[in-house]
Amino acid sequence: MSRARPLWAVIPAAGAGERFGGDVPKQYLPLLGRTVLEWAIRPIQTRADVAGIVVVIAAADEYWPGICLSSGRIQAVHGGPQRADSVLAGLDALSGKADARDWVLVHDAARPCLTDEDLDRLVETAAETCGGLLAAPVQDTLKAADNGSVARTVEREGLWRALTPQMFRIGELASALHRAKTSGFLATDEAAAMERMGHRPRIVPGRADNIKITRPEDLALAEFIISQSGVA
Ligand code: C5P
Repeated sequence: MSRARPLWAVIPAAGAGERFGGDVPKQYLPLLGRTVLEWAIRPIQTRADVAGIVVVIAAADEYWPGICLSSGRIQAVHGGPQRADSVLAGLDALSGKADARDWVLVHDAARPCLTDEDLDRLVETAAETCGGLLAAPVQDTLKAADNGSVARTVEREGLWRALTPQMFRIGELASALHRAKTSGFLATDEAAAMERMGHRPRIVPGRADNIKITRPEDLALAEFIISQSGVA
């Protein structure tokens, strides 16, 4: 099946980055001459088939005006206390111009190493079903801990790390996130909200180095990954 409906994007960038620490939110940290946020948007912005991009920023964001993303397709709106609230705010902003059946890519502002090839594969594959997400298989042995000691070993077979972008139909995703919110379920990614509605999002294998900047050491790693990829 081909993707007959238009494609949009929401970039949640309203987090404070508490685990990262520091004065500047991690999405605005410098990385190879740009900000982390600009690297995250790059593969989406360069696609001609993305009709519009909503960047969701914090209400008190003082850094966004300094970002230079020369495109009439990009708008900024204010997010909420949780990532899911921010994604909902982004979807709300699309509701005036997009159709509920259109597709939306949701991609963390803190993931600067997404490759064009992974994005292409997601866009091609997700539209064949209810939608899908980039994910990487778990490589390490997993331990469940209790009070600092191993309680048990968790079978890693069949386990994947959920990455972004994730791609769903705007209407279905908005209602899944609304439903999760009203029932008190904290959806830490879009797929979790969709799963609760009975959907089975497609796992699209992606690169393990599509990392999320979470701790200071991740920045040097991202710099290396982007330099090696040849897009810098
Ligand atoms: O905190 P975490 O690293 O999981 O955040 C993932 C993405 O969601 C980041 O790009 C962050 O800016 C965004 N976010 C948001 N609104 C929040 C919390 C996080 O847009 N309230």
